[in-house]
Amino acid sequence: MNFQSHSSFATRNLRIIITLLFLVGIATLNSPLTMRTLGQGRALPDGPGKIETQKLCTQCHDLDKAIAPRQDKTGWAGTVEKMVAFGMTATAGDVTLVVDFLATHYPADDVPPIRVNQATAIDFESGLGLRRSQASAIIRYREANGPFKTIEDLKKVPGIDTAKVDARKSRLIFE
Ligand code: HEC
Repeated sequence: MNFQSHSSFATRNLRIIITLLFLVGIATLNSPLTMRTLGQGRALPDGPGKIETQKLCTQCHDLDKAIAPRQDKTGWAGTVEKMVAFGMTATAGDVTLVVDFLATHYPADDVPPIRVNQATAIDFESGLGLRRSQASAIIRYREANGPFKTIEDLKKVPGIDTAKVDARKSRLIFE
């Protein structure tokens, strides 16, 4: 192998490596994970309090988690109070704006159905009001036993809060 062909071999390899790095970079930038990390997972609807909600509710977790529940104003006030207890710093004015914004755009009667056999742990947590350990127990049980056919199947998950499941039964979709 003379010097000439050795060098073009190296150049070709380098070119392949650069192309691969470029593709990996593009894939990473477009992945839902990256979008979520950047806080762009879901845009908030326009309205008073949008900016404050965006600012306050992205400090510790992503916005998707913050806006997952559907509850009335009292419920939202309770959630926001809980976040203050977790260390959220906000002026009283901001809190009022945020609670009004959340209660307007994510009200109690707007609860989305829960597709039991497709739902993620976060869907179970927010949709059924379950603790994280119970939500992940459902996922493990589903992986081990296959799709749930009825609410009775769902209630067989070890440790699950069956009262909460019953309370939301009209919203559960088994298919
Ligand atoms: C100081 C940090 C912090 C800020 C700021 C914050 N949260 Fe949280 N939030 C937490 C922690 C800690 C949890 C519980 C652990 C977890 O689920 O990640 C949580 C969980 C949640 C949950 C899951 C259900 C629950 O009640 O535990 C919701 C909903 C939520 N936050 C909404 C909000 C909203 C709305 C805002 C903006 C007003 C907000 N968070 C701002 C720390 C914060």
